[in-house]
Amino acid sequence: MQSGDLIPLPCIRDERGSLSVLETGIHFPFPIKRIYYLHKIPDRSVRGAHAHKALHQAMIAMNGSFDLRLDDGHAQKEYTLNCRERAVYIGPMVWRELCNFSADAICMVLASEHYDETDYYRSYEDFIQAVREKAQ
Ligand code: TYD
Repeated sequence: MQSGDLIPLPCIRDERGSLSVLETGIHFPFPIKRIYYLHKIPDRSVRGAHAHKALHQAMIAMNGSFDLRLDDGHAQKEYTLNCRERAVYIGPMVWRELCNFSADAICMVLASEHYDETDYYRSYEDFIQAVREKAQ
């Protein structure tokens, strides 16, 4: 699976409503150890602005919409996430920024590891330097 891949999540619909499901090892290649979500996001707020060294994540717009930019140090991709029936996979060594949140946006993130600040690149320059070093 490549960062930026869209993962369709099965949705079972009947007259009682819809049920979407996501199972590790079936829809995702990694086990989920942590779930967090962004909500009540003020207008013009920018979230993310970091990359991870080893973490695997999947991101779902559970409500509303927002824009996601991914940058692996070589190429950029942009998405508008507004559907709770698919997830975006984001692997290690990908800089991400989230912006243009609607007032009702909820961004849920499934993560392969517990929170660990040492897994972050919080400086874009440090991230690019690490990408260059890995390429050598
Ligand atoms: P931050 O990484 O800045 O959020 P984002 O980059 O997704 O916009 O996290 C905000 C704060 O929350 C920061 O102090 C770290 C803390 N935090 C946790 O304690 N646990 C977590 O799982 C995450 C993602 C963040």
